[in-house]
This record gives sequence, structure tokens and C-alpha cells, in this order.
Amino acid sequence: MATSNNLNQRRILLGITGSVAAYKSAELARELIRLGADVRVVMTESATAFITPLTFQALSGHAVHTTLLDEEAERGMGHIELAKWADLILVAPASANFIARLNQGLADDLLTTLCLATDSPIAIAPAMNQAMWRDQSTQENIHALSNKNFHLLGPASGDQACGDTGPGRMLEAPDIIQSLYPLFNSGALQNVNITITAGPTQEAIDPVRYLSNHSSGKMGYALAKACVDAGANVTLISGPTSLTAPDRVNCIHVLSALEMLDASLTQATNSHIFIACAAVADYRPVTAASQKIKKDSDSLTLNLVKNPDIISEVTSSQPSLFAVGFAAETENLLKNAEKKLARKNLDVIVANDVSQSHCGFGVDINEVALLTKDSKHSLPASPKTAVAEWIIEHLAPIYHSWKTNKTHG
Ligand code: PMT
Repeated sequence: MATSNNLNQRRILLGITGSVAAYKSAELARELIRLGADVRVVMTESATAFITPLTFQALSGHAVHTTLLDEEAERGMGHIELAKWADLILVAPASANFIARLNQGLADDLLTTLCLATDSPIAIAPAMNQAMWRDQSTQENIHALSNKNFHLLGPASGDQACGDTGPGRMLEAPDIIQSLYPLFNSGALQNVNITITAGPTQEAIDPVRYLSNHSSGKMGYALAKACVDAGANVTLISGPTSLTAPDRVNCIHVLSALEMLDASLTQATNSHIFIACAAVADYRPVTAASQKIKKDSDSLTLNLVKNPDIISEVTSSQPSLFAVGFAAETENLLKNAEKKLARKNLDVIVANDVSQSHCGFGVDINEVALLTKDSKHSLPASPKTAVAEWIIEHLAPIYHSWKTNKTHG
């Protein structure tokens, strides 16, 4: 069965327990890494009797964790941190003993402790002798774990290392990987490089004053997270905000429109999609005073010059980019957005009415319509995180069919 890879950038904690099948986990780790997953390995003490931690250290490029009470390891990524880090804990092979301890909720070694401490899904690939697999206690444990929403991968049936034949063989690495795909999101933008601008820009008047606007960056940051969740590689070019960049996002901080332009032109060369969510200041002072302007006179005239239109500069320097703009409007929302779509030569525009105080700039809610030259979708007022997910859900198929037409057109 061909399934598209949605493992890129997924953080997989690979747990290895004591079974002769542990040798297969080396191939499993290698394949997960080849598919773009970030893999960290935890081995039980008995696993190290079958295969060395050094093998997995070499494959994963990270130290292998083996003990719970290891001061050195706790100074690096401690066990709670590791449990939080993982998007998935995959225990392969999972021995009968480990399965029993897992079902009892024991925390008597590092791996069982991590399983208790994580909020992420846990998948287990059992591996044991066929009689041990058939044993009533094992079957009860497996049944209980399935009821507790653990994901059971296998086992397969066939010849066993001990000479027996029957169920209990660990699944082969490609079969385990196939079973992991459904555990993650759609991967609708898997491996797509996306650059997003967010937040306001600040245009210096003098060393202590600037021109700016009320953009908080919330919409752009939420989009960055939704893109990462859909499997994309995301660069966020952010004007000054008080937000922390979402996990796994490469964040470039800028202040002014000119700095944002510079960063955008550089990042665009390596991007498939460019999303301009920033509220770029349309004008900047012709010159910024080098000293604080004295308030000696009753009035002050600022000479302003128009800032470059970042998204237009980006699309003309990279015509093969898929370009997504936002339209912040206070009247004639859809009409004005359609005009901007055409004028700025965009593939998609997201229109938001910023005339209402509960939506748009600064707040957590937005109400948007997503337009192409021949389609329109609307979403009622919703939290920006939900708006971002909704945008990506609609954007991904539009992008993919645009790409297909471009390739075959
Ligand atoms: O940051 P938040 O508080 O969460 O608020 C989100 C938002 C309201 C700022 C956001 O949803 C939004 O609408 N962003 C675009 C704001 C804007 O500048 O709209 P505009 O209609 O003026 O510009 C149209 C498009 O051109 C936008 O994609 C904008 O990024 C881009 N542009 C504008 C001017 C400029 N010099 N360069 C640009 O690239």
C-alpha cells in the first residue's frame, strides 16, 4: 500500500526492550530518520544485551538513554522533558515483560516512566516466542492496553529465532512504518517549504519613536503552527511581537519593512509557498533622526516615503512561488480583496474585515474568507488557531492542484 510520508519532522522516541528482534530496530531507526523523523532512542537494560547503544547512537546522532537515574542524561534532556518532546513513543520490540509492566502502570525503569509521563500516543510492536504470545496473561495485557488506546502493531506470524513457528514475530520495519502514518495528521503540506511574514513592522522616526500598527502577530504565528502540523518546513519572518515562535519553526526577527523585505527575498529563493500575513507599515520616515527629536515646536511634520510592497517584490523575483496574501479591509471586504488578488498577482488571498473590534488586529478571533480567482470559502468568527487550521485545510488542495497544472501545463 503506497501511503504518503507524513513522518517529516515528527519526534519519535524509539523504545527498545529485551528481544532478539532488537536487531530489526536498527533498520527501523534508519528508515524513520531517512523519512525525516527526529529519532531518540531509549533502551531497557535487557535490550542492551541484544544490541549496543552505540549502534543507535551512530544511527540517530544522539546519545542513547538507558537509565532513569542518570545525572549526566538528566543534565541534557531529562526524562520528563523527553516524555514531553516525543510526538510518539514507539516501543519496538516490546517484550512480554515490558508489555506486562506497561499494563500495570509501573515506572520501574526509564522506558516505563516515559510511557507514564507522556501525553503523546504510544505504539507497541510485540516480539516474543509464540507460546509467550498465546499465554493468557499476555493476551489479557494486550487486550487491556488496546482498551487504553495504545496502538498495537502486529505481531506477525512465522518462523521464530527459537525454532518455533507461530505468532509473535516483530513486524518488519516497512510494515511498522506503514502503521505509523495514520497516527499522524494528513501531511497535507508534507515537505513543502513555506515562508510566512507576521506581525507589524516598526519604522523608526528617531532612536526612541516609531510608526507601526496594532498587529500582534497572532494570526501569522498560528498559521506557522498549522503549517508545521501539516508537515511543512516553516520559516517565520516576524516583526516585533511578544509571542514565542511555535516549536519547529525557523523564526527570523526583523523590525522594519526594509528588513522584512530583505529576509523575505532571501527566504523566497528556497520556498514553495509564501504567505504574507504581516501588517507592513505602508510608509516610513524618509530619514530617521539620529538623535531624539526635541519637542521644542508645537507641531512636527514627518516626511514619509512609501515602503516597498513585500509580497509583490517577492512574486516578481520568484514567479514560480505560490503566493498567498491577506487583505485587511474596513469596507467592501470581498470586492477589495478580489482587487488585491489581481493587482498583487496572488494565487490566494485571505480577506479579513478589520473594522470590528472583536476580530482581526490584536485579538484572538478572526473572521475570514479565502479567495482564488475562481473560488470563495468563508469561515465565521473563530479563534485564530482554528482559522489557521481552516486556511491550511483549504489552501493545501489548491496548492497541490496548482502545482500539478504547472507541471503538466
Ligand atoms: O497580527 P494579528 O494581530 O493576529 O492580526 C492579523 C492581521 C489582521 C494583521 C492579518 O490577518 C492581516 O490581515 N494581515 C495583512 C495586513 C495588511 O497589511 O493587509 P493589506 O491589505 O494592507 O495588505 C495586503 C497584502 O499585502 C498583505 O498580505 C500584506 O502582508 C502585503 N503587504 C502590504 C504592504 C506592504 N508594504 N507589503 C506587503 O507585502
